[in-house]
Amino acid sequence: MSPQAPRGTRDILAPESARLRALVESFAAAAELAGYGQVVSPMFEQIEVFQRVGEATDIVSKEMYQFRDPGDRHLALRPELTASLARAFVQHRPPLPWKAWYEGPQFRYEKPQAGRFRQFHQVGAELFGSDDPQADVEVIALAWRFCRRLGLGELRLVVNSLGDRSDRETYRAALSDYFQRRAGELSAPGRETLRRNPLRLLDSRRPEDRAVLAGAPVIDDYWCESATEHFGAVRSGLEALGIPFERDPRLVRGLDYYRRTAFELASDALDGAQDAVGGGGRYDGLVADLGGPETPGVGFALGSDRLLLACDAEGTFPAPAAAADVFVVDTTGGAAATLVAEELRGAGIRAGRAFDGRSMKAQMKAADRSGARWALLIGPDEQDAGEVSLREMRGHGAAASAESVQRRVRRAEVAAEITRLLVAAAAEGSAP
Ligand code: HAM
Repeated sequence: MSPQAPRGTRDILAPESARLRALVESFAAAAELAGYGQVVSPMFEQIEVFQRVGEATDIVSKEMYQFRDPGDRHLALRPELTASLARAFVQHRPPLPWKAWYEGPQFRYEKPQAGRFRQFHQVGAELFGSDDPQADVEVIALAWRFCRRLGLGELRLVVNSLGDRSDRETYRAALSDYFQRRAGELSAPGRETLRRNPLRLLDSRRPEDRAVLAGAPVIDDYWCESATEHFGAVRSGLEALGIPFERDPRLVRGLDYYRRTAFELASDALDGAQDAVGGGGRYDGLVADLGGPETPGVGFALGSDRLLLACDAEGTFPAPAAAADVFVVDTTGGAAATLVAEELRGAGIRAGRAFDGRSMKAQMKAADRSGARWALLIGPDEQDAGEVSLREMRGHGAAASAESVQRRVRRAEVAAEITRLLVAAAAEGSAP
């Protein structure tokens, strides 16, 4: 049996890899416009960093890739980046507010299915050092604006507030009491969730659990005054920006560090079970839990793989064109093609070529497949004359229907001539 990529992982080949990179570049531009700087942190951390995210969560208790290195350090591949950034904040103590964005692979030992992988990619942003509700609005607006820029229309923003730490704890106890009294009516997995974390029962999709949920206490009754005010200001801020949202009192999120604001972005173009393209919220206790000073924080992460699936479903954000500008067809043995192609590439021109001394016909076929606009032909005639022939390929520009035009260009002037043609073609393409 030949080896396969490990279950739940995949190779992302071109052009999809170029699309993923374009998504990251677009996110970087959006985040940097808002003053976020990139942080590149390790793919693995001491396990304690993630354990602080909440041992009651599946992400930490069941899904973490953990290992001991040869120096017997207990490490884990990062399942997310908020905890890593909080750790980096405690370690470096940058001036506040600290606004950071990131991208890269995350690792969770989940059951793989469409849109759910064991190695997946996120882009995200965190804002440390402010408990102003306007900071919550800023990060939500960043996530929203970016998704809209990708061309996603079927987006749903869902918001909730989990109250302060003590509100959340009182609510959790009240929920636990309620569910304990009706434990007999819950599904078997629902009872198991209740034992580990009653809050997580709120997003159970099982019909038995949902019936019990209908009468469960709601978080609103447990908010303290300042949490109520904070959430009111977040909602007004979103309204002022014209960002549509729904309130879902059952939105709790899968990580334990959230206080006050929690939100999720879902795509109606995706299958219901994996429709969350991103989520985030406020995590005011996290930095202190990692040994730093009390420092509030708010942020989000978006799943890049799922964003691209949503783009597929909506027919938007195609892979950037990978076509060559020029394809060098050399029937004199191939060494001349090496020289010309390198010269063109040095001038910033995308140049392809064939290998293995293929026939003229085979090389022209390859030129066609490459999507190049021009074929640059070098035969014995051209070589003797110190020239090349330039042929516009069918399907490009004026040559679309007519016989393709071919003309000679002096070998020494070929890079300058193609640059001139590219500039002219770009101007034509951008003309209104
Ligand atoms: P999360 O909700 O666990 O939050 O993940 C954010 C997004 O990552 C999800 O909405 C989803 O699109 C994507 N995602 C998660 N797991 C997978 C998977 N197995 N396969 C594919 N995509 C996946 C966080 O990670 C928090 N750190 C967000 C945050 C930042 N909160 C505050 N700041």
